[in-house]
Amino acid sequence: MPNLLLGVTGGIAAYKAADLCSRAMKAGYTVRVVMTEAATRFVAPLTFEGLVGHQVMVNVLDPGHGSEGLSAVEHVEWAKWADIACVAPLTASTLGKLACGIADNALTTLWLALPPDRPSLLAPAMNTEMWLQPVVQRNLRWLEALERHTLIPPVSKRLACGDVGVGGLAEVEDILAAIVRATP
Ligand SMILES: Cc1cc2nc3c(=O)[nH]c(=O)nc-3n(C[C@H](O)[C@H](O)[C@H](O)COP(=O)(O)O)c2cc1C
Repeated sequence: MPNLLLGVTGGIAAYKAADLCSRAMKAGYTVRVVMTEAATRFVAPLTFEGLVGHQVMVNVLDPGHGSEGLSAVEHVEWAKWADIACVAPLTASTLGKLACGIADNALTTLWLALPPDRPSLLAPAMNTEMWLQPVVQRNLRWLEALERHTLIPPVSKRLACGDVGVGGLAEVEDILAAIVRATP
């Protein structure tokens, strides 16, 4: 069973990550979830813990936030454990951090610790104005130039904010299909 590391950031589409998690498990993946603090404001870690049967990582400096506890170097172990990694949804903020190599939380630290042979998929989702911001587009170009990540582009639709435009999270089944295709 391939190991999937699922990263969840603080966007309105975070709830869809629970569906992705569930579908990935049904497709035969063993899943571990790392969330940003912002993501935990949208979906409780308990939702993912109930799905995957494993503690969610949120705080890299204090990983043992729950009764089970995670060791202090858990981020290195998790990065080695992953056969494939995917961030869905990916916020503008975390996209910028990944483009610049900033590792200031559990998710971005795990992504920096990911061995180079483990595929990394990124599924951004944000408001159209955010997506079209020159600085976000520049960060995207920087990410693409690294040739390290596979981008699952956002789709154009009516967004949660009411705007119609590009920025919606790709369909969950399309993200799962991309994960399956990229799995070594
Ligand atoms: C209701 C609400 C919805 C949001 N949705 C998004 C979103 O879809 N995409 C995005 O990039 N930021 C969104 N944000 C802003 C992020 O939550 C904010 O930039 C946060 O700092 C991201 O942190 P993270 O990247 O560490 O998860 C939203 C904020 C709020 C309050």
